[in-house]
Amino acid sequence: MATRTHTALVLGTAGLLAATGVTATAQSADTLGAAAAERGRYFGAAVAANHLGEAPYVSTLDTEFTSVTPENEMKWDAVEPTRDTFTFGSADRIVDHARSKGMKVRGHTLVWHSQLPGWVSGLGTADDARSAMNNHITKVMQHYKGRIHSWDVVNEAFQDGESGARRSSPFQDKLGDGYIEEAFRTARAADPAAKLCYNDYNTDGINAKSNAVYNLVKELKARNAPIDCVGFQSHFNSASPVPSDYKENLRRFVDLGVDVQITELDIEGSGTAQADNYSNVVRSCLAIARCTGITVWGVTDKYSWRPGGTPLLFDDNYNKKPAYDATLTALGGTGTPGATCTATYGKAEEWSDRFNGRVTVTAGSSAIRDWSTTVTVTPPQKVSATWNGSPTWDTSGDVMTMRPNGNGSLAAGASTSFGFTVMKNGSSTPPAVGSCTAA
Ligand code: G3I
Repeated sequence: MATRTHTALVLGTAGLLAATGVTATAQSADTLGAAAAERGRYFGAAVAANHLGEAPYVSTLDTEFTSVTPENEMKWDAVEPTRDTFTFGSADRIVDHARSKGMKVRGHTLVWHSQLPGWVSGLGTADDARSAMNNHITKVMQHYKGRIHSWDVVNEAFQDGESGARRSSPFQDKLGDGYIEEAFRTARAADPAAKLCYNDYNTDGINAKSNAVYNLVKELKARNAPIDCVGFQSHFNSASPVPSDYKENLRRFVDLGVDVQITELDIEGSGTAQADNYSNVVRSCLAIARCTGITVWGVTDKYSWRPGGTPLLFDDNYNKKPAYDATLTALGGTGTPGATCTATYGKAEEWSDRFNGRVTVTAGSSAIRDWSTTVTVTPPQKVSATWNGSPTWDTSGDVMTMRPNGNGSLAAGASTSFGFTVMKNGSSTPPAVGSCTAA
């Protein structure tokens, strides 16, 4: 245990208390969700409503995962099969189940060329297409307002191959390139609390298609359009393996000022080769402070959209595969070998109703670039302010994941600190600081 002394202004009658410091140590976690949570991330699965009656499916989901994505139930053909008539039954079952278990929900997806009902493809004029798109975004997001942590607002808008061109869709064809910005602006107005993502596949390495997405995000940011995150689907097989520049690709997007999420991960194969690939993907995410979570595209191989490819973490009988063990191990490891950090808590100013905490992040014997750590308060305490960092929160509001403002570069042995105010609401229990992850 290390201690640290602070110098701080004496404010109010309570004044400065002598600092007590606690250095966080890694804990062991034995589920994917718990291990990811210790790294300040969610670990999710795509879920189909019609399997929620199958006991092992549900128990695996509830035990292992902390986020769900409805696999098909929030798509346009499912929720608005007839113009302005909305059917949320199947999606609601998933959302209700997830929230009853304290899981987050990713919304998938609002504007996509696929799984559209016929009436959308038949829209005649630009005005009609615009009004249908904005009505769809608004009504669906309002229905789930406050219950979705991230929405895939626009999905798969670019063609495969070298062109970097937009893909034909009723929205692209009728409204032109500007439909994406319009969709994001409409989405922000509908549910300001949801993170708004662009999501695509074959964009996982640096290539012509991911360059096109990169340029889109750059332009949207330059225009102050409300985009918060980019989803990398990460469907891999032997013809489309995990790219060697996967991590570098995630990093260049983060450097544009967005979070990144791995949204539909599955990797065909078996045994050690599949396990190594999963490990590689997980470590890449952990190495990027703003890679905020991973979703695998299904709970079990039994119901994968690629049934012959056995691409998931549980087999047909819900047994854990080597890929599961590798994923859990990777979640417990460091993002980049050699890049380590410690996070040390100390209390600073205290008043009758609140106190300020400070966490000092110190690089290990190598320079680090990104770091993240968690701060957990004890209810009914609430964090009312933070400084010198970028916080995100779990659904309970008790666990804050802090990441750096900027790229978080620290020389070997160097330190930085962030601070926060805890409203006591009757409890002076010190917050718990999780382990520190660095790249
Ligand atoms: O539910 C009907 C069933 O009643 C019918 O008998 C059967 C016969 O074809 O079809 C069933 O619907 C299928 C549905 O999955 C549910 O299983 C659709 O035909 C089938 O097209 C649909 O496939 C989905 C696919 O998206 C559609 O594009 C997959 O489940 C789903 O995993 C997949 O997910 C996409 C993401 O949304 C976007 N990124 C790529 C990813 C994989 O393709």
